[in-house]
Amino acid sequence: MVLLLVAVGFGCLMIERGAWATTDETCASPPSTWRERLAAFETVWATHLTWRFLADPRAGRDVWEWMNRHQEPVRSLIASQWRATRPTEHSLRATAEVERRIDDLCRQIAGLAPAARAAALEEIGRWADWPGRAPLEARGVAALVAALTAHEQAAALHDPHPPAELVRARAALAARWREQRPGRAPASQAANQATNQVTNQTTNQATSQAASRVVRPSDGDFPALRAWFRGHCRSIEPARTPDGTPVFLMVFGRRPGLLPDHDEKPTPPRSAFPPGFLWGVSTAGYQYEGPNPGSIWATHEQAGKTAEPLRRAADGLHRFEEDIKLAAGMGLNAFRTSIEWSRIEPQPGVIDPAGVAYYRRFFTTMRQHGLTPVVTLIHFSWPQWFEDLGGWTSEAGVRAFVRYVDFVSREFGPLVDWWLTFNEPPVVFIAGYVLGISAPGQKNPLQALAVCRAWIRCHKLAYRIIHGNDPVARVSWNNYTGTYQFGNLFQIHLSVEGTAGSTPATASEAASVSRLQREIEDHWLADELAQRRSGRQRYLDYIGIDYYCRWRLPGGFTEAYSWEPYPEGLYDTLKNYHRWFRLPVLIAENGLATRDLAPRADGWTREAFLVQHIKQVQRALRDGIPVLGYIHWSITDNYEWGSYTPRFGLYSVDCRREDFTRVPTPAVEAYRRVVAAGGVTPDLEAAYPPPPPRP
Ligand code: BGC
Repeated sequence: MVLLLVAVGFGCLMIERGAWATTDETCASPPSTWRERLAAFETVWATHLTWRFLADPRAGRDVWEWMNRHQEPVRSLIASQWRATRPTEHSLRATAEVERRIDDLCRQIAGLAPAARAAALEEIGRWADWPGRAPLEARGVAALVAALTAHEQAAALHDPHPPAELVRARAALAARWREQRPGRAPASQAANQATNQVTNQTTNQATSQAASRVVRPSDGDFPALRAWFRGHCRSIEPARTPDGTPVFLMVFGRRPGLLPDHDEKPTPPRSAFPPGFLWGVSTAGYQYEGPNPGSIWATHEQAGKTAEPLRRAADGLHRFEEDIKLAAGMGLNAFRTSIEWSRIEPQPGVIDPAGVAYYRRFFTTMRQHGLTPVVTLIHFSWPQWFEDLGGWTSEAGVRAFVRYVDFVSREFGPLVDWWLTFNEPPVVFIAGYVLGISAPGQKNPLQALAVCRAWIRCHKLAYRIIHGNDPVARVSWNNYTGTYQFGNLFQIHLSVEGTAGSTPATASEAASVSRLQREIEDHWLADELAQRRSGRQRYLDYIGIDYYCRWRLPGGFTEAYSWEPYPEGLYDTLKNYHRWFRLPVLIAENGLATRDLAPRADGWTREAFLVQHIKQVQRALRDGIPVLGYIHWSITDNYEWGSYTPRFGLYSVDCRREDFTRVPTPAVEAYRRVVAAGGVTPDLEAAYPPPPPRP
């Protein structure tokens, strides 16, 4: 079977997964459910428009144009897959899906308690009353609003007055509709309905009728559909799903959904950053400190599995004070690092006072310089003795971990309030246990799943222990995130950890990694989401994300210095994570690598990267997404898990030659200016523009 997938960027993929996460209605909490259903509605409306376009024979010409951008044999592959699609059939299905979603959303909202229902309708009214909508998008909104109104009126027995916001939104939509189609009646009965209801609020419709009245683009709309499609579709590619099904894939450069486009709102002259926002820099123990013979990464190195030895890393063991001062000099107020368990407990049950003293000094110095410590317990590294004891999947291992967490949270709790238990868990499962390219270097998918389960348990234990020892602590974990421009293959992104040569060699290998990845991520995320839905004990106080780039797949994985910056993706990620977890979000990592110190081929500089990403954070805050902080990776160049070639530092350090002088990059001044200005002002935005788009 040949499918057509509409890949609309990670935003929508995430929403799809969000919808998956809320299928269990019995434990979904109403507010998050209707919001998620609204988001799902936007997505299906965009899919509906896409299929309406493709179902017209004239669309073939546009598709052909896109295909011509490819070389043979890709072109013929697309052509054959294109011929095999059945657009009309899909179009009908997509329309039915829109109707189902509207109906579903209406029933959901009708079932809310009156106060919650009024609040939801008001919010939808505000959402609907967005002036920048394209006509075709406005029709979807109109259909939804009409259906909601009809539901309200069906329920009018209890409440004869629909919320004012909803009435206002409906009126605005109807007026705009008339402006957009001068001299023409609205195209469908539902549009008429939407218009009439503005003046006639006594219409009494059955809810099911309203829900089935979807405004469809008519035949005469083909030019509008074409313009819509051209504005959103970036490319058409052949691909395969993980199970090998050929897929005809369209990539949309931005979500073709109904939410306002970011560029339509100017960046405000002053920032939206709240007081207490964490402006920080990040590093991690193993990458930064220096020799660490007790870590699993030392074993990995000894086995010849790294391109270069660790040597003295960035000599953080001796220079942390200098780095803290440099961070404070930029006006920052947060510093993230991780504790190396093997320094605290070099042998099972044996605490090393020197290790404890080091971290105590480190965190105390941060505080003395006005920096809030953000501390990770496990950042890709743990003691080799722990692995020898049986590791994560053994009871002895879990007991040892519990002891470690208890110790460090008692010891450092008075200095540290912000904790991250595990850095990028799924990255470890895939890179360390499936591909074997990171320590502990295993190639054992079953073990990966077992470790995933163990980490879920360990995270929960750590959460309770830390809170038990320090009631004001805030505990989370941080996930690797990104923007993926390639349909359902998005799951394989985690295999980029490590070197390019060690990524899956064949399509089937990639497919099985992809499947496993999905299983792991679903497992990992589903557990937390289920906890939240059920209203039982929660195990996250906020959610941490690391965001670096956009992946275009297929296309191969690249070295860190070739990752493609895509600042808008940070906004989407923030929005989606907040939508998923209903928690404030902390950006625990975001940064740009160069190859040694060479300028990047794509023209991006670290300073432009930083400013353009913070601009997206600002946008997210302005749109009401609670972002707790922005922590840039990294304060200095450091050991990039096997190599010193990728340089992420705000301050350059020649770790390879062991010259530890901290040399500021221009991004230091950019960061300082942004923080001093309280955000990205138009001047700063103009001073640090992104490179011009490449042809
Ligand atoms: C990791 C860091 C790493 C950075 C750049 C993140 O995935 O947490 O340890 O250095 O990415 O690759």
